[in-house]
Amino acid sequence: MVKLRKVVPRGVSDIFVKAEYLNPSGSLKDRIALEMIRDAEARGDLKPGYTIIEASTGNTGTALSFVGTQLGYKVEIYMPEGMTPERIRIMESYGAKVHQVKLEGSIEGSVAGAEVEIDTRVKCLEVERSTPRTWWARQFSNPSNTKAHIKTGREILEQLDGKVDAFVASIGVGGTLYGVAKALRERLPDALIVGAEPASAQYPLSEGYTRVPGTGDDVCGGIIEEMLNSGMVDRVEKVGNREAIAMSDRLVREEGLFCGISSGANVHLAVEVARQLGPGRNVVTVLPDHRDRYLSEKKYTT
Ligand SMILES: Cc1ncc(COP(=O)(O)O)c(C=O)c1O
Repeated sequence: MVKLRKVVPRGVSDIFVKAEYLNPSGSLKDRIALEMIRDAEARGDLKPGYTIIEASTGNTGTALSFVGTQLGYKVEIYMPEGMTPERIRIMESYGAKVHQVKLEGSIEGSVAGAEVEIDTRVKCLEVERSTPRTWWARQFSNPSNTKAHIKTGREILEQLDGKVDAFVASIGVGGTLYGVAKALRERLPDALIVGAEPASAQYPLSEGYTRVPGTGDDVCGGIIEEMLNSGMVDRVEKVGNREAIAMSDRLVREEGLFCGISSGANVHLAVEVARQLGPGRNVVTVLPDHRDRYLSEKKYTT
């Protein structure tokens, strides 16, 4: 946990960031990869000799590649076309096989979000149904995802001696925000919980969408729907790509934190919340992933 010094204006709340990009495979998804695999083994859904599959824009695929291959499983990741080549190479370095899936829609401008993953989830469903000894991790609806982040939330409480006034996180499949919110609300019923989504999201959660229209429970809904129906999230705010990139550059250059673009989105929104709450309060967020996976993309720097 790091207290930000330079990017926080005077006269606002303190902002603390949990540097999840320092996890072994470079993102907060290491937590859910281990939790999902161990729970599936305990249930008997995942057995020696099985292949783990997942739909991922990068981080969950990388984390499953890391944890899965260490535990002796084959790992195959279905990734939307057009992601940076580093992400594919990182997964292949761990020994995973990467399939690139052609997308129906555009992913330009997205930080995270369900619409970019639907086509790859459909692919995973087909593979799971047609291939024996295959286990699809299903991060978007797997309760072990939220369970892993309840632990993240408890760590945050411990690291800040229970003094948390607000938690902010960008929403991909929702596990981080929902899990941390559950942990905080056990002890702090008044803690403010704010989600971030890309301003370019095609089906914005902040405008009432809880899933991509026309999709069923097999490929959509899941954690996001449960979280939004739970009433635990006070609000979801849009963050523009430009703001997210600008803040991630400031985090690297001014704070020395070598984190990715959604980290910039999270801190950009955390500063807004810190302004609203004023001094003497603690606003917490996460730095979800490492900048190594964006380096070939010129557009990801100011
Ligand atoms: C870079 C990055 N930031 C944030 C998130 C959001 O995390 P979650 O899926 O737990 O909502 C993700 C995951 O989708 C991600 O890959």
